[in-house]
Amino acid sequence: MTQSRIVGTGRSVPPKVLTNEDLARMVDTSDAWIVERTGIRERHILDSSLAASDLATDAGRRACARAGVSPSVVDCIIVGTVTGDCPFPATATFVQKKLGAPAGGCAFDLSAACAGFLYGVSIADAFIRIGQFKNVLVIGVEVLSRIIDWSDRSTCVLFGDAAGAVLMTAGDENSPGRVLSTHLFADGGLAEILWQPVGGSREPTTAEALGAKRQFVQMNGREVYRHAVKNMATGARLALEANGFKADDVAWVIAHQANLRILEGVSERVGIPMNRFFTNVDRYGNTSSASVPTALDEAIEQGKLKTGDLLLFAALGGGLAWASAAVRW
Ligand SMILES: CC(C)(COP(=O)(O)OP(=O)(O)OC[C@H]1O[C@@H](n2cnc3c(N)ncnc32)[C@H](O)[C@@H]1OP(=O)(O)O)[C@@H](O)C(=O)NCCC(=O)NCCS
Repeated sequence: MTQSRIVGTGRSVPPKVLTNEDLARMVDTSDAWIVERTGIRERHILDSSLAASDLATDAGRRACARAGVSPSVVDCIIVGTVTGDCPFPATATFVQKKLGAPAGGCAFDLSAACAGFLYGVSIADAFIRIGQFKNVLVIGVEVLSRIIDWSDRSTCVLFGDAAGAVLMTAGDENSPGRVLSTHLFADGGLAEILWQPVGGSREPTTAEALGAKRQFVQMNGREVYRHAVKNMATGARLALEANGFKADDVAWVIAHQANLRILEGVSERVGIPMNRFFTNVDRYGNTSSASVPTALDEAIEQGKLKTGDLLLFAALGGGLAWASAAVRW
């Protein structure tokens, strides 16, 4: 039976670093507060001359190179983002052009915030299983620094910019990197606990809206925290149950890197110790849809994953939207 498999990964992280000490000079905060509440020490910020598609293209190119293929074979590009180059067209179309992927292939964005990458993997998995596309590039990219109020200490300490990508293609039930399952969820009743109100048809960008700073991320941190722990844990457990696995079978959890305390809460609920959670939130902050593929790429680069390892993925973000996946590495 045809299954989809991940054959290459890549990431692109802007060189400019913003540390907690830098932030303490901008708003009333401290390194100690940020580390204790979030585990974040620094994050990366994209140069103002560049856009999401530049980061995404770089990550996508690296994923193709790691897979040993030219971008000319990519027939579908899915970009998970809430900070694309512009409202339309899709950032994926800019990536297609910049990457040199063939015109006539498919390219689209999807909006599932921090779950965007795993939503993309699920769609790519379905496309490949039914034979609609052969080489699908799934990218998570965010330039959150552009939609953050840098005078709001309750949000500006949390986020960073990055892109991560995977190239997926067809395999069989013995192929390494194969996707075993994906689960997708959303609860629109919680849409307004984490959102960017202005910039769409509901509240267009007017001088009044900008004056009220409603073009920036608005978040009820405590509520998001509560739902993040509960729902990522539920999603992760469902991924295990669907495949008949137990917590002990999991070699690595590659979860959305929002906050170290959230990951610790998930670890406790799912019964998988923190030493099997890959973490890089200390160096990147919350990069939303980029966080899972960036973490996967770093885990590979650090030699942590062995062929045959069971990987468990989980993410949650604005929507609320959340997702999980199981992959046999
Ligand atoms: C944001 C978060 C770290 C805040 O931690 P918290 O323990 O809930 O803190 P609170 O918001 O209750 O604020 C506690 C106090 O710290 C203050 N505070 C908030 N941000 C601060 C900062 N950066 N530095 C110092 N103090 C800060 C608050 O003003 C408040 O002060 P008060 O008690 O005098 O009113 C936490 O809610 C969280 O991690 N939420 C999830 C956020 C997230 O991951 N979002 C993205 C998901 S995809």
